[in-house]
Amino acid sequence: MKGKRILLGITGGIAAYKIAFLIRLLKKKEADVKCIMTPASCDFISPLTIATLSENPVYIDFWNQKDGTWTNHVDLGMWPDVFLIAPLTANTLAKLIHGQSDNLLTATFLSAKSPVIVAPAMDLDMYIHPATKRNLAQLELDGVQIIPAESGELASGLVGQGRLAEPENIVAVLEEFFAKSNAFQGQKVLITAGPTYERIDPVRFIGNHSSGKMGFEIAKVFLSQGAEVTLISGPTKEKLTHKNLILHSIQTAEEMLAEVQSCWKTMNVGVFAAAVADYRPESPEVQKIKKNEERMTINLVKNPDILAWAGANKTENQKLVGFALETNDAEKHGFDKLKRKNLDFIVVNTLEDKGAGFGVDTNRIKIIDKSNKLISFELKPKHQVALDIVNYLKENIES
Ligand code: C5P
Repeated sequence: MKGKRILLGITGGIAAYKIAFLIRLLKKKEADVKCIMTPASCDFISPLTIATLSENPVYIDFWNQKDGTWTNHVDLGMWPDVFLIAPLTANTLAKLIHGQSDNLLTATFLSAKSPVIVAPAMDLDMYIHPATKRNLAQLELDGVQIIPAESGELASGLVGQGRLAEPENIVAVLEEFFAKSNAFQGQKVLITAGPTYERIDPVRFIGNHSSGKMGFEIAKVFLSQGAEVTLISGPTKEKLTHKNLILHSIQTAEEMLAEVQSCWKTMNVGVFAAAVADYRPESPEVQKIKKNEERMTINLVKNPDILAWAGANKTENQKLVGFALETNDAEKHGFDKLKRKNLDFIVVNTLEDKGAGFGVDTNRIKIIDKSNKLISFELKPKHQVALDIVNYLKENIES
């Protein structure tokens, strides 16, 4: 963990005393640790203890009354490689899922650019309360990694789940996080995302319901694991900025193909998640079409298959992943596309599955790989589906 920047948020629960040990362990591993404490946490452990162990000033308030200086939560949010909140109380958990920013820690959570990991700790009944369960599930859906509370004796005298994960176990999670975060260091990844809009006239187009979410989530996972990502996206509401991201916004399949052709040779990995229109109007009108006729016909011509082009121009060292959204016989069509487009694996999903497909935040996928192995996954939030896809590539596809 040498030189890794860990921003440690401490909230007001009795388990805060264990954070002294956690900071000792992180410092032994040569991590750079800065701490934000909520005002309530200062009743459980002294800021002086935290400052001394972390070898850095402790941030508690938005502004320092002694010298009138302002603590900028945006700068704090930009600083770390990971933002760890431990212990996370039920109260701060509830604030995080609602985007409240009533103290420096919660405001920094909203500003944070790094991944966030939380370790909840509370009494047994609070931990199993439906509100807490709901809030943890929402936080996970928002992309936060959760280190579950451990079981054992609690400060209240009760015995059960609710104890803060032991500092050694939190360190193990962080080590795994940093190991993963370097997995694609130096690798170039090309991702296509979103729909394409095929011009009919200056104001109309043929498009589809793709939101671009899946492709953007995949881009986020690769970026978090050190890759340099080129993302070629059709029209979408999704937004993403990152120092290792090049984003090309396009409208049509032909524009997407041109971008892909200009960079595919230099890429190590391609993940084609775009919902490319199969056909485009043969000759788009220059002026807006008037509604003079009772019927109208638009001649369509076939668009280039961008993924098939990449598959045909793939070297042995390049890995290529495609998607197949089917309404029937999903596996059969998936196998067929895998072979025809020369893919390492294909991600198949079907609109028949509830919670899968366009515009929703969840997806249920199957992966079929080039050795004809088929793996089915549960219905999950799209950011976790993205993780499954990237992990599958890392762990099962030889380069
Ligand atoms: O053949 P089908 O359109 O179902 O294939 C889907 C896969 O092929 C997706 O990965 C999609 O991004 C890609 N594709 C493409 N260019 C097309 C059509 C599909 O890259 N014209």
